[in-house]
Amino acid sequence: MKETAVTFRAAKGQRKLAMLTAYDYTTARLMEQSGVDALLVGDSLGMVVLGHSDTLSVTMEDMIRHCAAVARGCERPLLVCDMPFMSYQLSAEQACANAGRLVKEGRAQAVKLEGGAEFAEQVRAIVRASIPVMGHIGLTPQSVHALGGFKVQGKAPEAAQKLLDDARALEVAGAFALVLECVPAPLAARISAAVSIPTIGIGAGPDCDGQVLVWQDMLGMVDGLSPKFVRHFAECGTDMRAAFSAYVQAVREGSFPAGEHCFSMNEEMLGKLY
Ligand code: KIV
Repeated sequence: MKETAVTFRAAKGQRKLAMLTAYDYTTARLMEQSGVDALLVGDSLGMVVLGHSDTLSVTMEDMIRHCAAVARGCERPLLVCDMPFMSYQLSAEQACANAGRLVKEGRAQAVKLEGGAEFAEQVRAIVRASIPVMGHIGLTPQSVHALGGFKVQGKAPEAAQKLLDDARALEVAGAFALVLECVPAPLAARISAAVSIPTIGIGAGPDCDGQVLVWQDMLGMVDGLSPKFVRHFAECGTDMRAAFSAYVQAVREGSFPAGEHCFSMNEEMLGKLY
């Protein structure tokens, strides 16, 4: 069954939702075969694909190009695309125009934007234009400078109350789901119980209605320490490094390519060349 924003929203309380980030066609094809419910073309692509230290330099053109590639490999899962920094913050009109581009040019089925009640007007406008919106609160990486770094959010009472209020405001504005990033697990459970739309956690504990991970993190491909909330479901970084080294060695020692990798031709014809 094709997953849509409608089926995704209706899954709350019925089944746990699994979402993964995706940035290219080949990986999207593999993920499609896993039964994943939704693919998110996250602006995390700025970090894990383009090598920036944060998500702030990601452009609309970056998102459209990668979303269109994922769309070509994504038939059944719901396809959600992030709105990059400064593509919706200025006005409802700007938000609508850019959400429209992600749907028309990127072939997204829904968009995701970071922020709470302060962006309810943008959410309402995009939803009015018939584009489903996923909210994103807690650690919102586009606000890294205002937050003072990539830190757990909602630990103090006022901050926790603001997150609960933001979740309710986004639901009222028409969001069909909500990402909760780096929020204490008990607070995420409280928010999940307070709204009728599914919450998708990343570093927000087991009581969210679903989970999302950046795929390079969950496959152990990112150098350095993994965030506390990441589980490595495979050690692809180690396997890839070993495979690249084996290739380099095989080329250097002349064992690759072998006979089975070569095209043959008529030797007599070869003899006629001068
Ligand atoms: O950009 C992204 O990958 C995200 C997820 C971490 C939720 O927003």
